[in-house]
Amino acid sequence: MIKPDGVRRALVGRILTRFEEAGLTLKAMTMTQATPQQASAHYAEHEGKSFHPPLVQLLTSGPVVLLALEGAHAIEVVRKIVGATEPREAAPGSIRGDFCHMGYARSKERLGVIPNLIHASDSEESAKRELSLWFKDVDNLPEYQRVDMDYL
Ligand code: RTP
Ligand code: MG
Repeated sequence: MIKPDGVRRALVGRILTRFEEAGLTLKAMTMTQATPQQASAHYAEHEGKSFHPPLVQLLTSGPVVLLALEGAHAIEVVRKIVGATEPREAAPGSIRGDFCHMGYARSKERLGVIPNLIHASDSEESAKRELSLWFKDVDNLPEYQRVDMDYL
């Protein structure tokens, strides 16, 4: 998910390009305005933490772009391309390392939560849960293969 900070900074194309260039297959893409209920359900694992309310606020502060990406080791590869949670620590070359740099201390003064452009599922289980939360017809996505499939 490209979060509202990524959309409002007009980084959608550049972020998507990184996944395409790394060999992942785009299976679905949509833009939506998340409701507080959806945002809260999406980040249910963080409920009760101090950054949960500002996180829901950030996620609903504008539209998000939802991507379903397929590929070998897709979850691991996507997390690597996205980079560490704290942009200040995220490696150069990662999305969070290249396009943002906020640290936890500053985020507390500003939004109460760290804006880091993008969310990525962290396990097969969370990917399944999140895909069904955001995509109505997740079992019926169009089938196609990249032409470079043998090399990926
Ligand atoms: P995500 O779920 O968005 O892919 O991020 P993540 O796995 O790298 O990090 P996670 O621990 O799941 O946190 C979810 C999002 O909450 C915000 N956050 N802010 N102390 C803080 O200010 C803080 N901790 C977490 C970030 O936006 C993070 O991506
Ligand atoms: Mg997470």
